[in-house]
Amino acid sequence: MKDYLYQCTTQVDAHLESALPAVQGPAEQLFAAMRYSVFNGGKRIRPALCFAAASAIGKSNTVTTVAVAAALEMIHAYSLIHDDLPAMDDDDLRRGKPTCHIQFDEATAILAGDALQSLAFQQLSELREVSADTALQLVSMLSRHSGCSGMVTGQAIDLAATGKRLDLDELKNMHAHKTGALIEASVLMGAVATEAGTEMQLEALSEFSRAIGLAFQIQDDILDVESSTEQLGKQQGSDITNGKSTYTSILGLQQARSQAAELYQHSLDCLEPFAERAQALRSIANFIINRAY
Ligand code: IPE
Ligand code: IPE
Ligand code: MG
Ligand code: MG
Ligand code: MG
Repeated sequence: MKDYLYQCTTQVDAHLESALPAVQGPAEQLFAAMRYSVFNGGKRIRPALCFAAASAIGKSNTVTTVAVAAALEMIHAYSLIHDDLPAMDDDDLRRGKPTCHIQFDEATAILAGDALQSLAFQQLSELREVSADTALQLVSMLSRHSGCSGMVTGQAIDLAATGKRLDLDELKNMHAHKTGALIEASVLMGAVATEAGTEMQLEALSEFSRAIGLAFQIQDDILDVESSTEQLGKQQGSDITNGKSTYTSILGLQQARSQAAELYQHSLDCLEPFAERAQALRSIANFIINRAY
């Protein structure tokens, strides 16, 4: 799995390197902040899911898959920059380094997030090796999953729920939006970009991604409790300090773990029709629930 993530990282990073503006000119501080937040050691799980979903359909590593993976990682980086801001989770440490607003300043961090978001959609609108219909479908998918039908709504629910106690359905809904939506987009966009997936394959991948997306955030909640700041590269216990509703605060560690395990099992069931072509997706799913950072 480490090798697979490394390969995905190498490919997507080469694309990101050329897509992000060079650090020069009157806005060099902004460009430096964008690069700082993209190239600081993320696991590149969303690009990996995008590549692996394309492989499950039977076509991968095209120029298009790499550009789509880069767009997903840009959205992810923007979401983390804004998530760490004082007005949101107020975190100082990300991937073992000062968060963007600490390294630069708050205004620059806000703008770096804004610019990464726009650049992600620019990547998709400039795809040339797929039909215009497919490019438009990808733009629509990323908008829906990252914006007010997806991630941003999840973050709004998270903020509104801070200091309150959600019930399990509300918590599930929050996690499905704030984290699950972009994970689902990563899988579906990887598949759609091949222009070869059938309706049934996309449905199976969608169900897979919803299960593993929720498991991803449950594991994130677990790690906030049981990992260390050093291993996580972000402040351990941040959720508790901020009074966040999480799987561990609502269900306790043990039940959180068993929910993640159940979701993992269900995610594997969804992959059966793909046989050995879904091997990379299975490995990523396993990594997601067993990861220590
Ligand atoms: C962290 O995501 C934020 C969540 C959505 C839980 P990752 O754990 O994928 O973060 P990086 O990119 O590897 O740092
Ligand atoms: C972050 O959730 C979700 C998004 C950034 C959309 P968290 O707030 O739990 O992520 P971490 O723990 O700070 O990485
Ligand atoms: Mg948060
Ligand atoms: Mg956070
Ligand atoms: Mg967290």
